[in-house]
Amino acid sequence: MTDRETWATRIGFILASIGSAVGLGNIWRFPYQTAEFGGAAFLLVYLLAVVVIGLPAILAEFVVGRRADISAISAFDALDHPGWRAVGALGVFGGFWTLSYYSVVGGWVFRYIGASVTGGYLEAPGEYFGAVSAGPEALALHAAFMLVTVGIVAFGIRGGIEKATKVMVPSIVILLVGLAVYAFTLPGSGAGYQYFLSPDFGALMENYQTVVPAAVGQALFSLSLGFAVMITYASYIDDDENLFVDGGAIALTNTLIGITAGLVVFPLLAVQGGGYGEAGPGAIFVSIPTALSDVPFGSAVGFVFFLIVAVAALSSAISLLEVVVSHLVDTYGFERRRTTVLLGGIVFALGIPSALDTAWLTWFDAIGVNLLLPTAVLLVVVFVGWVLADDAVEEIRKGADGFETVGTVWLWSIRSIVFLAVLGTVALSLFELTGAPL
Ligand code: PHE
Repeated sequence: MTDRETWATRIGFILASIGSAVGLGNIWRFPYQTAEFGGAAFLLVYLLAVVVIGLPAILAEFVVGRRADISAISAFDALDHPGWRAVGALGVFGGFWTLSYYSVVGGWVFRYIGASVTGGYLEAPGEYFGAVSAGPEALALHAAFMLVTVGIVAFGIRGGIEKATKVMVPSIVILLVGLAVYAFTLPGSGAGYQYFLSPDFGALMENYQTVVPAAVGQALFSLSLGFAVMITYASYIDDDENLFVDGGAIALTNTLIGITAGLVVFPLLAVQGGGYGEAGPGAIFVSIPTALSDVPFGSAVGFVFFLIVAVAALSSAISLLEVVVSHLVDTYGFERRRTTVLLGGIVFALGIPSALDTAWLTWFDAIGVNLLLPTAVLLVVVFVGWVLADDAVEEIRKGADGFETVGTVWLWSIRSIVFLAVLGTVALSLFELTGAPL
């Protein structure tokens, strides 16, 4: 076997992980979830969920990956617990599944970049979205999105993923901040900030049963947990890195980018007359275009906005594909390029139903993000908390001098609050998916 690749630089690993975390989850899902679950109060619970649940959970995946030094399924063999391979397999499968429709949405975004130039969506945004979100053209754009994803992953960790995300992540930040400043100058945008940033605690207390699980789910999804991405990415790093610092930097940047996306989306929705809660998944494809027809430089703003979304979606999609590619390359010694192309083709095929009918897309999303993802996180949490246990603490302390106590606190948080919160999320999703009344 040839020597396994590693990241060229520490910042390369951090940026690639941020690239994975920052995606449709931040710019598309986060604003509409916030709107659906009551605005600022949701934001507050989400922030808490990132710190208390998401951060310990991302560290758990890091520990598994770095200690095993190999891709997500074989990792459990390498750690001498082959019985747990199924956990890695579930994560890898979940990522594969999710990528199939993630790419369809990515295809819509490609289309909206072009339509910003021609002004195609400005006249009747609702009808436009209805017409382009499913059908042969959506399928072709899904293919285009997968092609770019394959193109990057085929070049490997250093030559593909690290190089690409080094440009992608800073571009997202700069452009998004630019748009947030622009949104601030719009007359009538004030109500958007009010909605996004000043919490209504009364409503929160009334609806906490729905708000809390939604916020936990969003935190897990946004940090790219469950689908073995962080296990895989961490398997390419060295023992002298401080995982607490890396995990903290990734979680913090991801959250700040999500908030900045909110500072673009909510003011724009306010300009367009509010209606935050009703926007739903179509928010950025319908409500934002509606707002764009009313504001100065609408087309240019639309172009930049959808460009950001596309870059963010791509840097996440490559992480999902890398998980499966690295599994086949590491385990069976397959050649990377050919494997990547082949897998890209299979993901494309799996996404065909979602590209032809959005009802399929919604179904794939519900299974992938509401069920497979939290279940995989739960199993990793149990594995790290009770099976690896002291070994996990030893691993996390490597390269983390001065963080000895934090290591123990971390393990106990995994065994208590993280475990319970994720268990609750899985249980609720099961109730919802099976339609059982609560
Ligand atoms: N975090 C990504 C986003 O916010 C989605 C994702 C989830 C990517 C899980 C990889 C693994 O869009």
